[in-house]
Amino acid sequence: MKKILITGALGQIGTELTLHLRNIYGDENVVASDIKPSVPEGELENGPYEVIDVVEADQIAAAVKKHKIDQIVHLAAILSAVGEAKPNLAWNVNMGGLFNVLEVARELGCAVFTPSSIAAFGPSTPKDKTPQDTLQRPTTMYGVTKVAGEILCDYYYLKYGVDTRGVRFPGLISYVALPGGGTTDYAVDIFYEALKHKRYASFIAEGTYMDMMYMPDALNAISTLMEANPDKLVHRNAFNVTAMSFAPEDIAAEIKKHIPEFEMTYDVDPVRQAIAESWPNSLDDSAAREEWGWNPQYDLASMTADMLEKLRVKLGL
Ligand code: NAD
Ligand code: SER
Repeated sequence: MKKILITGALGQIGTELTLHLRNIYGDENVVASDIKPSVPEGELENGPYEVIDVVEADQIAAAVKKHKIDQIVHLAAILSAVGEAKPNLAWNVNMGGLFNVLEVARELGCAVFTPSSIAAFGPSTPKDKTPQDTLQRPTTMYGVTKVAGEILCDYYYLKYGVDTRGVRFPGLISYVALPGGGTTDYAVDIFYEALKHKRYASFIAEGTYMDMMYMPDALNAISTLMEANPDKLVHRNAFNVTAMSFAPEDIAAEIKKHIPEFEMTYDVDPVRQAIAESWPNSLDDSAAREEWGWNPQYDLASMTADMLEKLRVKLGL
């Protein structure tokens, strides 16, 4: 049985991924870790937890040795909007953390999964059906660390044989943990505001298309690629994956089908709008489909219906 260490496990993805992987591999075989001092009350308490600052390589190595880890899922990172406000922090955590994880993996014989992002693309990248292999000149610090991270993971595979794998996630939509400061967060905020106040002021402008995905598909992407036959993987570290592409007015119209009184206005944030405009409108994810069977289940309509149903219960509405 695999023994897995997750870094950044108390964030938007890790909160759900920890439980998803524990369902597959067993509670004791999936060690959650984060810089935060403790796990929130609830299901996450059912398995091991370590406090790890990924900037400190010795903390990662100590946990890998203590728990006899053979796979690291590295999620700790600073996302796009926070990264633009704090570029030094984004560089130190995203590059320093990944380098430390790869070094520990090389020395102690672990496989590594770490997500890249649509942020690894930039304004000169083809915007529609963005190819798997194309120009990558991102203009955000987050994007710089993501494209550098993709290449660094390739390097550790080619030079040292570390089994590195990853996907370029689009904006992830979920109801369990809140997003951690990204540009695509509007597509989560809108659900909370629609249910609580029946209105939402979008910080992303009308007509701005970005790729998105519902969390259950993202969790399956990670566990499927982790288990994929390595002989079939040509693009190990940076598979384009997507499930839908929409602009703010599209998701508003979908929500209105369930909450007819819902009204959307715009209060555009120039920083996050500029980031969004530098990213693709829609990705071509055919390499992921061909190389490891990527096949998302949720589109805009089914994601919206499920989000509203689950959030109503969570918010007690
Ligand atoms: P998040 O911001 O929700 O969570 C990140 C977690 O990392 C937090 O719990 C935070 O406490 C922790 N962390 C921060 N600094 C740390 C440090 N120095 N040491 C240890 N932990 C630290 O992020 P997320 O949305 O869960 O994203 C996880 C990964 O997926 C990141 O690499 C992110 O770039 C990538 N990704 C996310 C999305 C998305 O829409 N959520 C999209 C594309 C890629
Ligand atoms: N959802 C992420 C962000 O907006 C994309 O990587 O930062």
